[in-house]
Amino acid sequence: MTRTSQPSPATSPAARTVVVTGGASGIGTGIAEAFSEAGERVVVADVSAAGAKSAAAGMGAEHGEVDIGDAASVDAFVADLENRFGAVDVLVNNAGLAGGGGPLVELDVDVFDTCVRVNFRGTFLMTRAMGAHMARHGTRGAIVNISSIGSRQPTPGLGHYEATKAAVDALTRSAAIELAAHGIRVNAVAPGPVYTPMTAGFASNDEARTAWEARIPLGSIAQIADVVPAVAFLASDDARHITGVSLPVDGGQLLT
Ligand SMILES: NC(=O)c1ccc[n+]([C@@H]2O[C@H](COP(=O)([O-])OP(=O)(O)OC[C@H]3O[C@@H](n4cnc5c(N)ncnc54)[C@H](O)[C@@H]3O)[C@@H](O)[C@H]2O)c1
Repeated sequence: MTRTSQPSPATSPAARTVVVTGGASGIGTGIAEAFSEAGERVVVADVSAAGAKSAAAGMGAEHGEVDIGDAASVDAFVADLENRFGAVDVLVNNAGLAGGGGPLVELDVDVFDTCVRVNFRGTFLMTRAMGAHMARHGTRGAIVNISSIGSRQPTPGLGHYEATKAAVDALTRSAAIELAAHGIRVNAVAPGPVYTPMTAGFASNDEARTAWEARIPLGSIAQIADVVPAVAFLASDDARHITGVSLPVDGGQLLT
């Protein structure tokens, strides 16, 4: 459930309310920080209540606990947001995981189910609840989903994860066309590999890191700061005529 910390002194009177799922770690924290620094009211939302609280405290943001894969948790979270802040303007569906890896013919079914539950079902549940909320409030808002270029380019051992991100891209297009009449835009950012806690395992393995860098024309694995501006842009009025796209931020990896 959302609890309120002191609003950031930098929050402007015209601030939008921005919800970032998975905001307790990695790319989500980077996105939340950028919106917070821009003077927006940010809600750091995560399945880890302690993680959300601690990340939010560092940026003067609000925080909340939600398990995006659980419909009751999502509905309670959105109702609580509405009570506290009224209309939400921007949703960043960032929470996600791989949950493990391996060839499809050997993959543990529990790993598959966990990944589908969070990445696919979770993005659906948050879009369902927040899309309805934005439409009800007349918020001509924006939803930005965090996909992956894996949705379009396979890497052996990540098939389960990549399939969920292909589902996220499909949800992005469907939600974009269904919510357009309400002035709500829905887009995705599709990163290649990014240095975060999720990739710490392979990033600390010289051989694995070098092999991945060799697939990237611009030559380096992304930092979180390389991904954040694309999210900020798609959530901004500068992107007012853009909806239904999944924008790669991958150093050119999809060209190879
Ligand atoms: N790191 C990469 O290389 C990379 C590349 C492409 C896409 N992505 C995507 O970016 C997003 C963020 O990844 P990251 O690398 O920052 O990961 P991360 O592991 O650092 O952070 C993920 C966050 O999501 C939260 N989370 C997990 N399950 C949740 C649930 N059920 N409900 C609410 N929150 C939940 C976790 O607690 C964590 O705080 C994910 O969707 C991931 O698939 C990451």
